[in-house]
Amino acid sequence: MIFRSIINYVVTKLDITVDLQYGDSGKGKVTHFLCKTKKYTHVIRYNGGGNAGHTIFHKGKKFITHQVPVGVFFGVRSIIGSGCALDPDALFKEIRELENGGVRTKGLIFVAENVHIVTPAAKEEDGKDRKVGTTKRGIGPTYRDKYARTGVRAESIPKLKPYLIDLYDEFNIKNRDAVVLGEGAQGFGLDIDWGDYPYVTSSHCTSAGALLNGFPPQSVRDIWGVAKAYETYVGLKNFEPKNESVFGRIRELGQEYGATTGRPRQCNWLDIALLEKAARMNGVTKLVINKIDVMNRANAWKIRENGEVVSFKGAEPMKNYIRKRLAPVGLKAKDIFFSESAETV
Ligand code: IMO
Ligand code: MG
Repeated sequence: MIFRSIINYVVTKLDITVDLQYGDSGKGKVTHFLCKTKKYTHVIRYNGGGNAGHTIFHKGKKFITHQVPVGVFFGVRSIIGSGCALDPDALFKEIRELENGGVRTKGLIFVAENVHIVTPAAKEEDGKDRKVGTTKRGIGPTYRDKYARTGVRAESIPKLKPYLIDLYDEFNIKNRDAVVLGEGAQGFGLDIDWGDYPYVTSSHCTSAGALLNGFPPQSVRDIWGVAKAYETYVGLKNFEPKNESVFGRIRELGQEYGATTGRPRQCNWLDIALLEKAARMNGVTKLVINKIDVMNRANAWKIRENGEVVSFKGAEPMKNYIRKRLAPVGLKAKDIFFSESAETV
């Protein structure tokens, strides 16, 4: 028998949530559900920043989080990881709003000392974007400056001092096993490398992006892919088919308006090849497909396959088609959850 006190061996287990489409697939709900049902010691936001808007229903109350990980709702240590872009003032505002909403955050929020800071100049520059349709939260310029090695890191900001941690210490030194949930932002279709460039964000939105926060690949347990039964996208490229009133209906029924900027989201049918690709490349082991309730109410059952639109008679035939299409990815029927509620999985 090997004594832990001698070798100081610490085990970290990591579950990851990852959006398989263009953001806004319901990650907030899924991370909230996981946090409620699994015993995590930490939740870490692994990419993106104030561009995210995660809608969370907690004890019957609606919250929208931008930078704060979902762990705070359950008293779990919540970290803004090194893969993020952190806007300190927006963070403090969000903390105040959570506190006003009755969520205790004190002693629960931590910031990786090597995370890059969104400066006022970055926000001003991003505010002038006319090409991508960004959220104007300074994301692009912040990551650009990071890679140009001219960026500002959290460790140099005095008012962040009480929040700073070293991710290596947190997960390797403290002689304590950790069970971590990696909370993703944005989505596969917005990923800097695998999304529809240049209509992308500037961070790594894939499950690999979670590992970049200092986690060894062996620590990964489950990868929860999150998608919607249809697709939405916010930004300047053309995404929604013209003159099809059904998408206007879906937009209203699904309340498809940006949680961060209020912009109407363009809608389209689920692209099953994109879902398959995203499930494969992210190594998805569990899949949640949200907003079946919206499809029910719109009474529209279609997906895109090979550049064509395939129609179904109802929810069950469409679900069966999705199950069959994703079986070769290694996803069994029991690993795919179709959700019909905004508040539960
Ligand atoms: P969550 O985490 C949906 C989109 C923007 C724009 C592009 C680049 O809520 O899913 P950026 O401000 O990141 O430089 O904008 O990415 N975008 C999102 N769309 N959900 C998000 O986050 C998004 N974050 C950025 O609309 O097209
Ligand atoms: Mg969102």
